[in-house]
Amino acid sequence: MSKACSAAISIAKRLEGKVGLITGGASGIGAATARLFLKHGAKVIVADVQDDLGHSLCQELGSEEIITYAHCDVTRDSQVQNAVDLAVSKYGKLDIMYSNAGLPANMDGILSSDNEEFKRVLDVNVFGGFLAAKHAARVMIPAKKGSIIFTGSNLSVSCFQCAHAYTASKHAAVGLAKNLCVELGQYGIRVNCVSPYAIVTPLLKSFVGLMGMENEKIQEAVSAAGNLKHAVLKAEDIAEAALYLGSDESKYVSGLNLVVDGGYTLTNPSIEMAIKRLHSS
Ligand SMILES: NC(=O)c1ccc[n+]([C@@H]2O[C@H](COP(=O)([O-])OP(=O)(O)OC[C@H]3O[C@@H](n4cnc5c(N)ncnc54)[C@H](O)[C@@H]3O)[C@@H](O)[C@H]2O)c1
Repeated sequence: MSKACSAAISIAKRLEGKVGLITGGASGIGAATARLFLKHGAKVIVADVQDDLGHSLCQELGSEEIITYAHCDVTRDSQVQNAVDLAVSKYGKLDIMYSNAGLPANMDGILSSDNEEFKRVLDVNVFGGFLAAKHAARVMIPAKKGSIIFTGSNLSVSCFQCAHAYTASKHAAVGLAKNLCVELGQYGIRVNCVSPYAIVTPLLKSFVGLMGMENEKIQEAVSAAGNLKHAVLKAEDIAEAALYLGSDESKYVSGLNLVVDGGYTLTNPSIEMAIKRLHSS
C-alpha cells in the first residue's frame, strides 16, 4: 500500500484507538452505531438485553478482538458495572459511553395511562442513562477524558398529545446530560445528547402500534410529516452524529443536545393548515 493511501485510510478512521460501549446496541440506532464505530477503528462493547440479536450482530461485525457482546439490563446497577468493567478488562479502557437503550411508551392519554408503565419507561430511559453515566464516570474520571452520549428524541424539545412517560423521559435525559456536563467538565469528560426525529426501528413501530406494517409504508408517512423534504432519516444518520460526539472532532463540545430532525421541532404547521382550511371553506 502506498504511503499516501495508508495516510488517507488513517485520516478516515475517526475513532482509532478508542473504546466505546453502546447500550441498546443490538438493534436500530445502537447497531448502526456499533457498525460505524468499528469502521472508524474503535473497539466496541454491545450491551443489550436481546442476547441472540446482540451475539449475532457481534459475530457478523468482527472477532472478539474488536467487538464483544455483554448482556446488560441498563436498569440493573451490577449489569451496567459489569459491562463497563468488561470494556476495561478486555480493551483496556472506556472512551465513549453511548447510553442509547430505550423503551417506547403507550400512546394513552393521562387518564388511561398505566402507572407501572410510566415507571418502567422512566426506569430504562432515565435511570438506565444515570447508571450508564455513573459507571462510565467511574473509569473516565481517573483517565481525565471521555465522551458520554445519550440518545434523546425530538420529544426532548417538543411535545406530543400523549405518551407522557416517553416525552418526560427524553426531557429528563437531556436535563441529566446537561447537569452531568457541568460536573464532569472538570475531569475532561464531555456529555452530550443526540435527539433524532422518527426512524423506522422496532421501537418506533411498537410506539405507533404498527408492528405488522411494512417499514417502507411507515417511513413514507414519517418522512411526509417531516420538515426537511427529499431526505429520509436513517439509524445510520444518528450513528454519524454519535461518531462526531465520540470523536476528538467535538473535543470542546459538551452540554449539547444535537437535534437531528431536519428542523421538525421548529415547525408548527397547524395554524397554517387551519387558515388554509378557512380559505377553502
Ligand atoms: N426510532 C425512533 O424514531 C427514535 C426517535 C427518537 C429517539 N429514539 C431513541 O433511540 C434509542 C434507540 O432506539 P431505536 O429506535 O434504535 O429502537 P430499537 O428498538 O431498535 O433499539 C432499542 C434497543 O434498546 C434495548 N433495550 C430496551 N430496554 C433495555 C434495557 N433495559 N437494557 C438494555 N437494553 C435495552 C432493546 O433491546 C433494543 O435493542 C432509544 O433511546 C429511543 O428512545 C428513537
